[in-house]
Amino acid sequence: MTRRPRPAAPAAHAAKAPPTAAGDLHAQLGLRPGQSIELLKALHILTRDGRLNQDSRRKLKQVNHLVQFIEPVLAALPPREGGPLLADHGAGKSYLGFMLYDLWFGPRGEGWVYGIETRAELVERAQALAARLGFERMRFLPLSAADAAHDAALPARFDVVTALHACDTATDDAIAFALHKQARALVLVPCCQAEVAASLRQHKALQLARTPLAELWRHPLHTREIGSQLTNVLRCLYLESQGYAVTVTELVGWEHSLKNELIIATWTGHKKRSAAQRLHALLEQFGLQALRATRFAALPPPACDPPP
Ligand SMILES: C[S@@+](CC[C@H](N)C(=O)[O-])C[C@H]1O[C@@H](n2cnc3c(N)ncnc32)[C@H](O)[C@@H]1O
Repeated sequence: MTRRPRPAAPAAHAAKAPPTAAGDLHAQLGLRPGQSIELLKALHILTRDGRLNQDSRRKLKQVNHLVQFIEPVLAALPPREGGPLLADHGAGKSYLGFMLYDLWFGPRGEGWVYGIETRAELVERAQALAARLGFERMRFLPLSAADAAHDAALPARFDVVTALHACDTATDDAIAFALHKQARALVLVPCCQAEVAASLRQHKALQLARTPLAELWRHPLHTREIGSQLTNVLRCLYLESQGYAVTVTELVGWEHSLKNELIIATWTGHKKRSAAQRLHALLEQFGLQALRATRFAALPPPACDPPP
């Protein structure tokens, strides 16, 4: 059965639910004041009769929490004509982009949100939803994070780059995108990343012969965990070496998600040499030198390298 297209609704941030007899619906559902019920229903976070199931409660809490971290980042940006540009990588159903638009970009009447996502059907759905809700300053592109950096459809500069659980190395590609676009800030909640663990696994025997430290990743489970931990440590050092101040914290309690590390990087312009040297040393120590060219391309050479 083909569905009839629904008539365009007014901008969802303008269509708030009326107070209920039982009290304020927002308070009951743990929503932010002014958060659009219409949008949450369209995203299937709320059921048609305005209820939350366990999964959607978790997602809502997670995304709302992340929005609270992003708002001060947006507020601290230097003013730009037309408002800030934000790119969200691995956008999926674009929960984050839509909620940011609903709570921040929409009410301010300026700025743009770009969703970057490889799955074309999710991009089409997000485009259709943005049109239906009147979220005019949202764009969605069927691109990988890596390709997006050089895609002509995207502006030359972005202010903020986000990636919430972008799969595997998409977070690394989002970092490369942010550096290319001279972003003022990055807000990253990495997903599991297999690349470093694969590399640790490949050179395990050699490393075990070389150093007792390799005991840290001898068992397969530890290889995965150390790989994931090391990946984020390397990402932070890289960002510091490229002129960002980095904070690492927890997004929400562990009961809500296992992938819970929140990395916020804000541009200071101070490119920490010590971070670059530490990053080189860790790559060397863990036998990951091959990543220098692929993941850490902007890293300056180690201090002791002879001049070319
Ligand atoms: C786990 S989902 C997270 C979606 C969304 N950010 C969220 O938290 O609800 C990861 C998304 O990243 C997309 N993805 C995977 N690799 C990607 C890449 N290299 N570039 C852009 N998107 C990618 C997937 O198609 C998927 O929709």
